[in-house]
Amino acid sequence: MQESVVKDLALAEAGEKRIEWARRHMPVLDRIKEEFEREKPLKGARIVACLHVTVETANLITTLVAGGAEVAVTGSNPLSTQDEVAAALAARGLFVYAFRGENETEYYDCIKKALELKPNVSLDDGADTIAIIHKEHPELAAQMLGGCEETTTGVVRLRAMAEDKALLYPVIAVNDAETKMMFDNRYGTGQSTLHGIMQATNFLFAGKTVVVCGYGWCGRGFAMRAKGLGANVIVIEIEPRKALEA
Ligand SMILES: NC(=O)c1ccc[n+]([C@@H]2O[C@H](COP(=O)([O-])OP(=O)(O)OC[C@H]3O[C@@H](n4cnc5c(N)ncnc54)[C@H](O)[C@@H]3O)[C@@H](O)[C@H]2O)c1
Repeated sequence: MQESVVKDLALAEAGEKRIEWARRHMPVLDRIKEEFEREKPLKGARIVACLHVTVETANLITTLVAGGAEVAVTGSNPLSTQDEVAAALAARGLFVYAFRGENETEYYDCIKKALELKPNVSLDDGADTIAIIHKEHPELAAQMLGGCEETTTGVVRLRAMAEDKALLYPVIAVNDAETKMMFDNRYGTGQSTLHGIMQATNFLFAGKTVVVCGYGWCGRGFAMRAKGLGANVIVIEIEPRKALEA
């Protein structure tokens, strides 16, 4: 494996503090970690995690390592990577290839470096690792026990591959879990999208006109929050029942 590629290892201490703060709000994962420490159910698992490199993911990775897995971490979106979190994980000795603002070439290079772990499990948020394994490393596909896919777009891509009989190993569609859609898609994305826009623009939402394209789980959550802040919300939706609901 190549050395980790992160922005600045000196950020590790700040990253650990933020990871610890998040851990205190993730009691279920903490309980699973205790069980994993005793039972080591993931011994022998070599996991490539191509996920948003955030404090929550860091706690997930900690849990996987506690279970005995070897893990290589790469970012699933160059704009969501928290550099201090990447630094903290790298400083613990994990293989981490992620920094905020990667260009397209750097983004795919990071995934390819993570694949040097010769994984037998993939965790994806957007199906990019699975896509690269299928296109460029079919030899890895043969040894894959399975994978997980987090998001709607990734699941759509994978269902198309499965229908074409082109999906070479089984993947759990995490996004199909009702609790995932109800909480992450609706409330999580509803909140974080608004937060992102506010931080980037400093807009006051009251009195603004907001157009939401698609009234699915994320669209509903975002529309609800934008309305709550006093925006005039317009929804565009092609599915008649959802349009009616909007
Ligand atoms: N944390 C995150 O960043 C995060 C989390 C969850 C989902 N997502 C992403 O958000 C997107 C939406 O996810 P979701 O779970 O709400 O999906 P969804 O399937 O529940 O909703 C999508 C909606 O868009 C509508 N739609 C499709 N094409 C349209 C068009 N041309 N015009 C208008 N409406 C159209 C569909 O009818 C559907 O109601 C996906 O790309 C998903 O991957 C991001």
